[in-house]
Amino acid sequence: MTPRLEEFLQTCQRRVEAVLEHELKRESPSDELQEAMSYACLDGGKRIRPVLVYGANLALGGDLSNADAAAAAVELMHSYSLVHDDLPAMDDDDLRRGKASVHKAYSEATAILVGDALQSLAFTMLSRSTPKLAACAQLQQVQELARAVGNDGMVAGQALDFAATGVETSLDDLQTLHGLKTGALIRASVTLGAFSVDNCDTERLQQLQSFADCIGLAFQVRDDILDVTSDTEQLGKPQGSDQLNGKATYVSLLGLERAQSKASELTEEALHALQGLSSEADMLRDLAHYIVARNH
Ligand code: IPE
Ligand code: IPE
Ligand code: MG
Ligand code: MG
Ligand code: MG
Repeated sequence: MTPRLEEFLQTCQRRVEAVLEHELKRESPSDELQEAMSYACLDGGKRIRPVLVYGANLALGGDLSNADAAAAAVELMHSYSLVHDDLPAMDDDDLRRGKASVHKAYSEATAILVGDALQSLAFTMLSRSTPKLAACAQLQQVQELARAVGNDGMVAGQALDFAATGVETSLDDLQTLHGLKTGALIRASVTLGAFSVDNCDTERLQQLQSFADCIGLAFQVRDDILDVTSDTEQLGKPQGSDQLNGKATYVSLLGLERAQSKASELTEEALHALQGLSSEADMLRDLAHYIVARNH
């Protein structure tokens, strides 16, 4: 990782952590629910989606503080998806971000409710009245996030993932599945970042979205690879879960070497998509390299 990316990641991680803590460390009618939500979201995870929100904001010459709510919202949404993804009815994984999954630390019922509440909180944050953003920009953010995580996006991807378990799957179908379950929220992260900047023109938005589509898929290809090559301690989640569950992955279809070549090709495509953007997009460029080289 380049030193400038490392510094940017730390800045973004600190920012989003502070916003999330402010939202989650407060009284609620159910202390247990609130505590479990904090457990699921705070002090863990790479925060790649918030970094993409901030990175897109920066690439368009924006002010990072205008992207705070969007950065927190995409992380809340992502954390919810992980809590539900780990449930016994889904991937049945007992470890997440280096600690017991929410259904293990609390209960299955609590894990379901934590997911529900995190999703709702994401929209509460995005739609909260603020002098930082025009109401129409906020509405665009809400609409984009809602579309990305629902039955045309992430949840559809999870349904396809479930349907493809233990079943022979074509590469085209796998690409569609990965594009939905992981790619849709990554595209939304970049798009919300762009909507946090005044006067984001359509051409630059489309360049950023093409970039996001490539790194979104590359991100999941690398996740598939790490399931085979890494170890549980490094990953903070159970290594070998995909193989154990008979999941369709880039590694199961292409093998390790071709899966990594695919990830590298996608990085090149992602960088190509950013060609028209200035050096303000360099953090996104560095991030594209990091995503396929990361080891957890
Ligand atoms: C894991 O996402 C789930 C996928 C979509 C591949 P991350 O690898 O971003 O998980 P955290 O947030 O760092 O824990
Ligand atoms: C998770 O994909 C995608 C979502 C949570 C939407 P995976 O099942 O591959 O994620 P990990 O490997 O458990 O983090
Ligand atoms: Mg899964
Ligand atoms: Mg999983
Ligand atoms: Mg995985």
